[in-house]
Amino acid sequence: MRRLFLLWAACLGCELRPQLAGREVDLSELGKRLRPGFLLGAATSSHQVEGNNSNDWTDWEETSFEDGRPHIEDGSRSGLATDSYSRFEEDLQLLRRLGANAYRFSIEWSRLQPEENLWREEVANRYLQWAIELRQAGIEPMVTVHHFTLPKWVAARGGWESDGTLEHFERFASRLAGRLGSEVDLWCTVNEPNVQAVQGYLLGIWPPGKQSNRDTALVMARLIEAHARAAKAIRAADRQDADHDGKPAMVGLAHHARIFQPATGSALDASVAALTDDFFNETVVRAARTGRIQLSVPGQLDLDKEVPGLLGSFDYLGLNYYTRDHVRADLSDPSFSHQYVPEGRPRNGLGWDIYPEGLYLLLRRFAREGLPIYVTENGIADNGGEQRPTYLAEHLFALERAASEGVDVRGYFHWSLLDNFEWAEGYEPRFGLFRVDFDGPERTRTETQAVDTFRQVARNLGLSPAP
Ligand code: BGC
Repeated sequence: MRRLFLLWAACLGCELRPQLAGREVDLSELGKRLRPGFLLGAATSSHQVEGNNSNDWTDWEETSFEDGRPHIEDGSRSGLATDSYSRFEEDLQLLRRLGANAYRFSIEWSRLQPEENLWREEVANRYLQWAIELRQAGIEPMVTVHHFTLPKWVAARGGWESDGTLEHFERFASRLAGRLGSEVDLWCTVNEPNVQAVQGYLLGIWPPGKQSNRDTALVMARLIEAHARAAKAIRAADRQDADHDGKPAMVGLAHHARIFQPATGSALDASVAALTDDFFNETVVRAARTGRIQLSVPGQLDLDKEVPGLLGSFDYLGLNYYTRDHVRADLSDPSFSHQYVPEGRPRNGLGWDIYPEGLYLLLRRFAREGLPIYVTENGIADNGGEQRPTYLAEHLFALERAASEGVDVRGYFHWSLLDNFEWAEGYEPRFGLFRVDFDGPERTRTETQAVDTFRQVARNLGLSPAP
């Protein structure tokens, strides 16, 4: 029996103190208290794994910033990625080996509709086939409709800055749900509106490379609106209850939330951390609660808009959680803040704070919305694979703790099933439970140490990992 010992840092100023100091995670027990039917799975997204895509991101990968730096830090292109479009059956075996009973993958809009008036039925059939095969293997598919990439023709017309994209997206979601609805019940409309808006429109490090407060707010709002539109379309088109739970479609979105910890006890640090938290963590959740998109950054933006169909459009909230930022007020910065990880904190390969307690805190906080929660992503960039087993166990421990205190958390999807194209960072960071050899054309997959941890938890849940 492997035991992992945890030391939970005290959470200064947190209203909820988990008081888990000194607790040990006993792998032989981990997960046993989770509800029957709990989904334990892994996640990927189309552009990061499929290979040979052609969309707004592939254009971005070909080009550089004004100062000559390539858009992708290591100069790579998504290219063949993990070749998962052709190797789905191989990936399915990986999921079976894990003992997973769920898989979150995304649909590549540009593959289905490379041109406005072209719908490639053979691609729709292939995605449908994946869902059929997953279901036959006892693996519940969760399908993401939009995970950061757009067809080139949509991007050329202004992408998420344009109102017209909402119409196109709604039609796309409707058609997709009509084709896949017989096998898919769990739908994730949009992945991380806040991350896409900030990276693409505030920091300008993702397409379309803008740096504008106004556009950031506009796009964040539009992506939430896109969720509402897609939710309506999916519920209308997916009438088949694939898992026989009485509900043909469960619709939500994947919301990226972080802990913003004030760096000191000063009122200024606290207010700036609260402001950042409100914009980044609360906007989506407030939208679900009120049906309004409300954004306010003093002196920079002020938006308050009721969106038809938004209220009631969430059947669940998806939570993507990775890390915590310390926040110090810095009034010279446009965001008023400086975010950092203090010396001495455990970090992942990208320098992110490893803070499992944050998952517990966010689950407790978002549970107040009264929606079921799925942890739609959680994972670690860990090139050697040594940190991942502990990361996985600690975060599942935090989740189980929240569940045992009454949080209705129904699933956990580890990011990621396998190493993949990590956006602006290219292929350097490795998030996979399975390591991928990006040098060989076979894209050979090899298990990392965390596979054992995952399998143990799967067994604790009564699942049967394949040998
Ligand atoms: C995104 C993934 C990404 C992961 C790790 C999430 O914000 O949804 O696409 O690979 O973080 O950075």
